[in-house]
Amino acid sequence: SLVTLRELLKDAQEKNYAVGAFNTNNMEIVQAIIEAAEEERSPVILQASQGGVKYAGLDYVVAMVEAAAKNATVPVALHLDHGTSFEQIIKCVRAGFSSVMFDGSKHPLEENIEKTAKVIEIAHAAGLSVEAELGKIGGTEDDITVSEEDAMMTNPEEAKYFVEKTNVDALAIAIGTAHGPYKGEPKLDFDRLKTIRSMVSTPLVLHGASGVGEESIKKVIELGITKINIDTDIRQAFTRGVQDVVNSKPEEYDPRKILGPAKEEMKKIIKEKMQLFGCANKA
Ligand code: G3H
Ligand code: 13P
Ligand code: ZN
Repeated sequence: SLVTLRELLKDAQEKNYAVGAFNTNNMEIVQAIIEAAEEERSPVILQASQGGVKYAGLDYVVAMVEAAAKNATVPVALHLDHGTSFEQIIKCVRAGFSSVMFDGSKHPLEENIEKTAKVIEIAHAAGLSVEAELGKIGGTEDDITVSEEDAMMTNPEEAKYFVEKTNVDALAIAIGTAHGPYKGEPKLDFDRLKTIRSMVSTPLVLHGASGVGEESIKKVIELGITKINIDTDIRQAFTRGVQDVVNSKPEEYDPRKILGPAKEEMKKIIKEKMQLFGCANKA
């Protein structure tokens, strides 16, 4: 059966590693993530965004992850990524997710707190964990100036206030990463992370981690990040796998011969992440 985020992140925090949270949209991605976790002996979080749920269908997402978890010998959590509507959260609670993210980062602080608290009340009553977001993690395509970027970053005082008010299980913070592929290396605000960590004991989450260099990843884990989200790196591995086959064997028409290698490409990068995050051999 599925485990909660709270349970996974507690162990990560105690032992100073980060659990990888990998976005999934279809069966091959689910299989790549679970096989990588088994081979690396790693606890793992499979997560689906609202777009992912819409694409695959809620029942399919749950059924696929439950099928993966059924024979798994490592702990598996199923998490909603960036839930923005109360309705979506309730659907995931009912469908069997073990954890949800409520992303109220677009709202003013008090409204974000109020909405997050409401989600927590319901999710906790049903036995699920909740991740919230404070500060704005944008997209690399957003085209923002340095001062705008600074304004989007998580304010440490607000983070302390937010967790005191909500008692949330995990907090996503903005320290300079963005969703999607980077042009060049992102500059992370390590001092901000250090300050937040010194004021907040809640497990902290790094979004937009695809394309962030190994040294930076090691440093944020050292400074207290316990959940790291990866989507783009998996998408790119999948697409590279498909392209390799269709380019080298244009006559291939068996989907298994096209998606099979794509799955292997994804597995490779997921296993590398697990080793880098330190969650390998922690199951
Ligand atoms: O946070 C963004 C994730 O990569 C999910 O993206 O909404 O396109 O599924 P998506
Ligand atoms: P990337 O696509 O940049 O890896 O971000 C993933 C993420 O933060 C999902 O919530
Ligand atoms: Zn994200």
